[in-house]
Amino acid sequence: MSEGIDLTVIDDGDRSTITVERGTTLRDALRNEGFSVYGTVSSTLNCGGRGLCATCTVEVDPAPEPVHWHDRGAVRFGYPRLSCCLEVDRPMTVRLLEKHVWGQVLPRR
Ligand code: FES
Repeated sequence: MSEGIDLTVIDDGDRSTITVERGTTLRDALRNEGFSVYGTVSSTLNCGGRGLCATCTVEVDPAPEPVHWHDRGAVRFGYPRLSCCLEVDRPMTVRLLEKHVWGQVLPRR
């Protein structure tokens, strides 16, 4: 059995800890625990974790090096990271973002 890695998840001010198997995609890890990384429409209409729709963004700290072309673009232009393009390989703090319909990030309150 693989070692578990703790993730701190911040969702609208609530902070919780989940333990994730090393190598799990961050998107899948969050969804498996009942967290949504999407907006209302993109929760159904998304690319299924292929790194194409850019609707699964989250903020992560520490931020891993990007390995996917689309996630490299997110880093280059200062956008949140694509959770489907990040494998959990270390403890991280993940902040979920409030999104509108497709996945546009709403300004923080
Ligand atoms: S689910 Fe489409 S880019 Fe992540």
